[in-house]
Amino acid sequence: MADQAVSHSHASAYPWWLQPAATVVILSGFVVYSIWVALQGRGYIAPYLSPFYSPPVSIRGIPISPAFWVVWIPAGFRATCYYYRKAYFRSFFRDPVSCMIPESRGRYAGETAFPFILNNLHRYMVYLAIVVLAFLWRDTIDAFFFNGRFGVHLGSLLFLVNVVLLSGYTFGCHALRHLVGGNLDCFSCARGGRTRYRLWQWVNPLNLRHAVWAWASLFSVSLVDIYIRLLLAGTISDPRLF
Ligand code: FES
Repeated sequence: MADQAVSHSHASAYPWWLQPAATVVILSGFVVYSIWVALQGRGYIAPYLSPFYSPPVSIRGIPISPAFWVVWIPAGFRATCYYYRKAYFRSFFRDPVSCMIPESRGRYAGETAFPFILNNLHRYMVYLAIVVLAFLWRDTIDAFFFNGRFGVHLGSLLFLVNVVLLSGYTFGCHALRHLVGGNLDCFSCARGGRTRYRLWQWVNPLNLRHAVWAWASLFSVSLVDIYIRLLLAGTISDPRLF
């Protein structure tokens, strides 16, 4: 362990444990916050719908918070994301803590055994995440209309930034990149190859910065919800900008 600490501290300006520790704190905080938000049962103040409550679903006779019907989709999408897997395997399980460090477990089961075999569902979660994203874009358009009149408030801009970051994160997904063209050896030989090549080119730059989109969108989702909770509590007002 001491050797690990020395080699890491030589390689970078900050201690080796800082990044995994920050990952544990931020991801744990986000999970706790998400559960708390879902338990509130309320996430709307006109015209803003919290991203944790979108799309709004309620089933008659089942009195649970509407957030629970939908929040498992973005939660599952992030939990199975290839980038987040690397982040939490290294930080929560130290498995391994970095590239050059051996596995901490004796037998490496990887994602072939429960529960991590569920990570293989990511290629399906991306479809559901795109559906939720479409609803979030609709919510963002709604966030620019106040009693039927167009206006730009601080909340409207927060919604716009958030949905752009979420789109960058979703469309930079490794599974999506594979789907649109990453699985091909020859675009010109494939059916729809020209279109798939364009899509692949569009996804590539997002995919290159996938970690940045992942963290930025995690913060923006939280920020938008906090803003709505402060409005609901009457702590702040929503200033009109235009
Ligand atoms: S790999 Fe991160 S969202 Fe798909």
